[in-house]
Amino acid sequence: MAQLWGGRFTKETDRDVYLFNASIGFDKRLYVQDIEGSIAHAIMLEKQGILTLEEKDAIVKGLTTIREQLENGSLEITDKYEDIHSFVEANLTEMIGDAGKKLHTGRSRNDQVALDMKLYVRSQVSEIEELLCSFQKILLRIMEENLETYMPGFTHLQKAQPVTLAHHMGAYFEMLRRDRSRLNDIYVRMNTCPLGAGALAGTTYPLDRAYTASQLGFEGPTLNSMDSVSDRDYVIELLSALSTIMMHLSRFSEEVIIWNSNEYGFVEIDDAFSTGSSIMPQKKNPDIAELVRGKTGRVYGHLVAMLTTMKGLPLAYNKDMQEDKEGTFDAIDTVKECVSMFMQMVDTMKFRKDVMARSAMMGFTNATDAADYLVKHGVPFRDAHGIIGRLVLTCIEKGKSIEEMSLEELKEISEVFDADIYEAVSLKTCVERRLTTGAPGIAVMKEVIAEYKKYLNV
Ligand code: ARG
Repeated sequence: MAQLWGGRFTKETDRDVYLFNASIGFDKRLYVQDIEGSIAHAIMLEKQGILTLEEKDAIVKGLTTIREQLENGSLEITDKYEDIHSFVEANLTEMIGDAGKKLHTGRSRNDQVALDMKLYVRSQVSEIEELLCSFQKILLRIMEENLETYMPGFTHLQKAQPVTLAHHMGAYFEMLRRDRSRLNDIYVRMNTCPLGAGALAGTTYPLDRAYTASQLGFEGPTLNSMDSVSDRDYVIELLSALSTIMMHLSRFSEEVIIWNSNEYGFVEIDDAFSTGSSIMPQKKNPDIAELVRGKTGRVYGHLVAMLTTMKGLPLAYNKDMQEDKEGTFDAIDTVKECVSMFMQMVDTMKFRKDVMARSAMMGFTNATDAADYLVKHGVPFRDAHGIIGRLVLTCIEKGKSIEEMSLEELKEISEVFDADIYEAVSLKTCVERRLTTGAPGIAVMKEVIAEYKKYLNV
């Protein structure tokens, strides 16, 4: 046990208490941020005349060496220290002597940990945002290749109107666009530097907080020291954005699972991205999609846990806040892994265009267009709706689709039908006539794709 705070105690900490209190087991992943923040702090302290040039140089060199040693494996983080801050400071002091003990001047672990966590969250926001961008590129490729791949669009999971695979994938592209913009919003809102807030009330040393902030790429320093050390909104916002990403992935997963079922057969998941059964030799299971759907629950869980942890905390820092890390780290790891696996699965998935088109044809997805045909020939829409309803009933009785009915059979239902009905209700016509912005018609889809290309810079 090596602690930063033994002075006012007459007894050693109980071993179990020490372990219960310690966070090194998980905050060790913040070593990069902890060292980066300490270097900026030391440079600022020297600029302000609080450290000498020699002390600052020794500290910067020492911290850089510690980072290198951690990276090349010659130094290991062990639970001998309470947290990553103690570990770094103790190793620095061991390496450079007394100058190491001056690093913590004008700083508390409260503003230090707030900074470390902000730096970490900020970097992860960017990484996840980039990952989503790669996923969008895959979706865009599928869209471009499938402008004329007809499939049924569903409402209530019942076939509704024909769309294209490009159009369907475009819906997910839009979800990811909002996800990315949410992440960007978080970045902008959280980008103020808490370092210099001290334990809660600032410090009497003449710190230049703006200088520290600018060294670390922040917009500027935070403006209330109590809030600086007790704010975890950015963690909650991240967990909320990650939950929404998982919700989107989970909906997509659900569709892949349905499409991959024997009954639908719309897609075939690549062998490399599916799994078998230990007993049923015929099985090829969509495990990745199921796992992504399943892992959504734990990311939601971390969001609710953090909201609950924070809800009763008086200002300013409380140890409860140490609980921000494990859940956030797990949520970040989970989302990155899920996005990466899922997009590779989608990238290699085969779409069975013939099955999709046949499904669109057999489900009366052109019934609205058949009604519109009658409307164009002077029948009021409400009457047309009734006529086509009766037509569908007859088709079901005869086991035929609308376009498989002969003109005679159609005329029995309504005299208005003529030979041009077949063209009017073909999948191609149904889709291509839908030309309102955002609809599946090829001409408008091409415009949307051009927008997406601009947005992705491709
Ligand atoms: N391990 C602590 C955390 O993660 C660091 C801050 C400790 N501050 C304190 N006053 N005990 O929140």
